[in-house]
Amino acid sequence: MNHPSDTHPQHQLQVCDLVKSYGKVPALKGIDLHVDAGEFVALLGPNGAGKSTLFQLLSGLFVADSGRIRIDGRDLRDDPIGALAKLGIVFQQSTLDLDLSVRRNLLFHCDMHGMQGSRARIDSALQAMGLADNTRSAARALSGGNRRKVELIRALLHEPAILLMDEATVGLDPASRSELVRDVRALCKEQRLAVLWATHLVEEVEQADRVYILDKGTMLAHGTPAEILTQTASDSLLDAFLQLTGQTRHSGEGAA
Ligand SMILES: Nc1ncnc2c1ncn2[C@@H]1O[C@H](COP(=O)(O)OP(=O)(O)O)[C@@H](O)[C@H]1O
Ligand SMILES: [Mg+2]
Repeated sequence: MNHPSDTHPQHQLQVCDLVKSYGKVPALKGIDLHVDAGEFVALLGPNGAGKSTLFQLLSGLFVADSGRIRIDGRDLRDDPIGALAKLGIVFQQSTLDLDLSVRRNLLFHCDMHGMQGSRARIDSALQAMGLADNTRSAARALSGGNRRKVELIRALLHEPAILLMDEATVGLDPASRSELVRDVRALCKEQRLAVLWATHLVEEVEQADRVYILDKGTMLAHGTPAEILTQTASDSLLDAFLQLTGQTRHSGEGAA
């Protein structure tokens, strides 16, 4: 018998009916999602929606209660090493060693993953991101935006097909935030990366190719931004998001 996930072998990332609870607390109640090569897909949801839980399942840190995850055509349960080799992740919490230099942080990652020829690759990636002058700086000395760029470079060193970004812009000023979105969008299009960008900020998803709206473990809507406006009869994604998640605009925010 064919499983639904077998009918779309072209999806870089495919999640089918994924369920996860923490004890009695349900975090994901059977969600479906896919991302294709070259697509920038947003996962939009308020705090507690289940975004980080999904990323922890995708990265193999936790195991789902039920459902399936396919990464570049490989089932995460059947072939975890093959599947995870295709995945790059920037987690919500920074995982840089702040006392090490930028280059050491990246070399450490390469050593851990047995990557050859890493120094040249690291230096050219730093150059491409405009960080060539920071190679020998301690990670601690970098701005929040540049630290995130180093984490982005690290996530891409093994040339994954899929990039997961979990609330990567939290704590960044607006200029650094939009720069990071722009950098990741450019990588997505130039290298045909499949990108899943989790955020609670509506303004970050307006340019996404498609958007999934997650709340309390349930996928409330998905489609292109234009399709979501039509589905919800809304004028803006913010209105659609507030309507779907049962929130209201604060007074003074100009509700129509
Ligand atoms: N380690 C954990 N133990 C128990 N409950 C958790 C744990 N991690 C998350 N949760 C709960 O699961 C739900 C989803 O959380 P999370 O995936 O962190 O959402 P988001 O990343 O969208 O903010 C929330 O109700 C949260 O309290
Ligand atoms: Mg989170």
